[in-house]
Amino acid sequence: MTNPGFEPVDLWDLECKAREILDPGVYDFFAGGAGEELTLADNVAAWNRLRLRPRVLRDVSRIDTSTTMLGAPVVSPLAVAPMAFQRLADPDGELAAARGATAAGNVMVVATGATVRLEDVAAAVPHGQCWFQLYVLRDRDLTADIVRRAAAAGYHALVLTVDTPVVGVRRRDQRNRFRLPDQIIAENVTPMPVTQADKRRPSLDHDPNVTSKDIAWLVEVSGLPVVCKGVLSSDDARLCVAAGAAAVIVSNHGGRQLDTVLSSADALPGIVQAVGDTAEVYVDGGIRNGSSVLKALALGAQGVFVGRPIIWGLVTGGASGVQTVLDSLRQELATAMTLCGASSVKMLTPDLIAGTGPSIS
Ligand SMILES: Cc1cc2nc3c(=O)[nH]c(=O)nc-3n(C[C@H](O)[C@H](O)[C@H](O)COP(=O)(O)O)c2cc1C
Repeated sequence: MTNPGFEPVDLWDLECKAREILDPGVYDFFAGGAGEELTLADNVAAWNRLRLRPRVLRDVSRIDTSTTMLGAPVVSPLAVAPMAFQRLADPDGELAAARGATAAGNVMVVATGATVRLEDVAAAVPHGQCWFQLYVLRDRDLTADIVRRAAAAGYHALVLTVDTPVVGVRRRDQRNRFRLPDQIIAENVTPMPVTQADKRRPSLDHDPNVTSKDIAWLVEVSGLPVVCKGVLSSDDARLCVAAGAAAVIVSNHGGRQLDTVLSSADALPGIVQAVGDTAEVYVDGGIRNGSSVLKALALGAQGVFVGRPIIWGLVTGGASGVQTVLDSLRQELATAMTLCGASSVKMLTPDLIAGTGPSIS
């Protein structure tokens, strides 16, 4: 039962509202994580463990949250993380999410498992900043074809997800026997029919043999900057950059892959230090309020991706629900910046986090 008088104050309220609307199995698919969901919980807890040490007596009469991501101007360092199967959340799915992200002035990452054709999403937001998330599939020709289509459709970057050689063990989905309804399919991975009678089902069959060599292959095929998503080790971050990645996303896939891996907040400082100025470093996982965004930026992230709250925005309000999530996080970030004495994103430095400093490892 929905409650029309209920106005969400924070993203947890919004999740409650979305949960009332969704079929329980679909809610679990979105909300759930791998194994016993310890990393899922720790992603949120790790941001909350960090304590801020604000600066005072600074001019905070004007706060500027704007920055750039891969050289493109954005209203704030927030971005929509890639998430498959968005038509489970809203009839327009990825079209609505892209419209919401663009209205908010933020990057939207469209997933390989999108339920709308990638060309249609790009066409819906001609002035938007859309990036395309890629799973390298066992069918390398199909993979190259998808990459070329994304480049031709005007996507600005490829986000290569590197933490999913196989899909993690999702117990909620097992208990619910979750499967996609027949009318919702991954629209971009259907192999070209060989004959007219040949109606092959789309395949999201990940290639477990993806290595750093494939980064250069993807740069060559696409002509786009490649962002490696799902890095938790400093050595892997260096490897990605040495192999040609323009950026890395510190991420454990929102706790959906291997349970008990470290939280993205805990992995971030070491990766920032390892990568230095050689590439951009972004982060996702457990971001639910503006203070957590501020902490990520203070620890050296140049962009902060948001996952599940975007889904709750889609479920409760379509494109404008997504815009509201991003706008309210930006507003909370601006308030936290004001209270930390930082008038611009550049002023968010590690000394704002108690117990850390520029030499943190
Ligand atoms: C329902 C759902 C589907 C996802 N699908 C993908 C995907 O197709 N590709 C990918 O790289 N990450 C995927 N992710 C992971 C997100 O991109 C992101 O890493 C994670 O959701 C961030 O954590 P948060 O939800 O706590 O913000 C998915 C996450 C969720 C919740």
